Amino acid sequence: MVVKNICCLGAGYVGGPTCSVIASKCPEIKVTVVDKSVTRIAQWNSEKLPIYEPGLDEIVKARRGKNLFFSNNIEKAILEADLIFISVNTPTKTFGNGKGRAADLKYVEGAARMIADIAKSNKIVVEKSTVPVRAAESIMNILKANNEPGVSYQILSNPEFLAEGTAIQDLMHPDRVLIGGEETPEGQLAIEELCSIYEHWIPRKSILTTNTWSSELSKLAANAMLAQRISSINSLSAVCEATGADVSEVAVAIGLDSRIGPKFLQASIGGSCFQKDILNLVYICESLSLPEVAAYWQQVIDMNEYQKTRFTAKVVQSLFNTVSGKNITLLGFAFKKNTGDTRESPAIHVAKTLLDEGASLNIYDPKVEESQILYDLTHPSICESPEEVKKLVKIYPDAYSATNGAHAVVICTEWDEFVTLDYREIYRSMMKPAYIFDGRKILDHEELINIGFHVQTIGKRLPRPLSTRMWSGTAVV
Ligand code: UDX
Ligand code: ADP
Repeated sequence: MVVKNICCLGAGYVGGPTCSVIASKCPEIKVTVVDKSVTRIAQWNSEKLPIYEPGLDEIVKARRGKNLFFSNNIEKAILEADLIFISVNTPTKTFGNGKGRAADLKYVEGAARMIADIAKSNKIVVEKSTVPVRAAESIMNILKANNEPGVSYQILSNPEFLAEGTAIQDLMHPDRVLIGGEETPEGQLAIEELCSIYEHWIPRKSILTTNTWSSELSKLAANAMLAQRISSINSLSAVCEATGADVSEVAVAIGLDSRIGPKFLQASIGGSCFQKDILNLVYICESLSLPEVAAYWQQVIDMNEYQKTRFTAKVVQSLFNTVSGKNITLLGFAFKKNTGDTRESPAIHVAKTLLDEGASLNIYDPKVEESQILYDLTHPSICESPEEVKKLVKIYPDAYSATNGAHAVVICTEWDEFVTLDYREIYRSMMKPAYIFDGRKILDHEELINIGFHVQTIGKRLPRPLSTRMWSGTAVV
């Protein structure tokens, strides 16, 4: 079989960009991305796409209506497809066994059941969502137990390694593509079919094939190793603050060791979707009776939490231990720059703590919608009184209006535009003493101190502004 028709279940952060790039690189293949959500599909078919990714708009506009389609007609897309990607969401379970840790596979299972109910011909089913090890087995069990006579399935694991904010670049030039399948002739044939799609633009040597379980575990392992690096540098940032070392200097010094390497050593206020995957890894390890391994990875998550708590505590402490009634500006709400995604964003943690302490918040993010910010901050897991939150939170259309009259500014996301703001102007419009807390280490701290700001960042002690040093007699905040 040569794949001519692809269906993707789930038009989210993974399914949307991945299939757009496949459609762009394989013009002879029809790619249909389907979703249960009518709104989401309408957005994919509109001028304003539901997700922001640099370069995505151009690709979608070039291929949409030609060989790239977004639809709610799931049945038709499944019937037509030779190959089906499952890229539905896999949130952490919020109830029952494994609550708060295990991945909730209800959407993956729902997708498998849909395929089983609808398919009338052989399909290659490709698991793209990040799933626990041996999830392919569950998908296979559902498909085999419910299939129509004469219909057979091959299940492949093809985890996606793209990072948000650089999704298109990552999809165009991936470090590797990983495909896991059954070690049977039929399994190998299915792997070859999927390889031939990627070979439209990716050299064969960058396409790695393994057994299904290695592939599934590799995705969790890659995220765990990345998260572990961030937790390690963040743990050292606390040591830097206590000793007078500078974590950026330490990162450069250790990153020059070719065994360590320079990437992913940026200390900051905490990570994101890693949390979900590592919680999941911890749960799997416990289920496999490997408590020591579980405890090791749990510590990576704990360090991430500690970093967020430590940073917010520093904000409150610096503002004379009370932020009640004060106006604090959060610059950035997305979990990283170049995305509008706020899932597990450290900004939510910062906002919640400050709101609990009675602060009023002014928030500006270039790509996160007002409705999303209010949704996140009024979520039952964050607040008890949505009405109170709505009174205390104001969303602004730019950084200058958001900082006007504020007591303090907290940089929560490393958006490029925050680096080049006119901080003299911002200082003039703020309450004095004016504070900046740079949670992403992106600003020129020396310049800010010269302007008159009290500046705090991560992994480095900074001197006070000159004017306050005269009478306080101490050089350190
Ligand atoms: C991650 C993985 O990188 C990707 O391979 C996987 O497919 C999905 O999960 P993503 O979460 O989109 O991607 O972004 P990533 O760039 O990994 O950043 C995750 C978080 O870590 C962000 O909040 C980022 O700000 C933070 N981070 C990253 C740091 O704090 N320091 C760093 O050095 C790098
Ligand atoms: P990710 O970041 O993993 O891509 P998202 O939450 O952005 O996750 O996207 C997952 C999408 O999958 C959602 O838009 C959701 O509506 C969709 N979805 C979940 N289950 C199904 C299903 N059975 N069929 C089609 N779409 C589904």
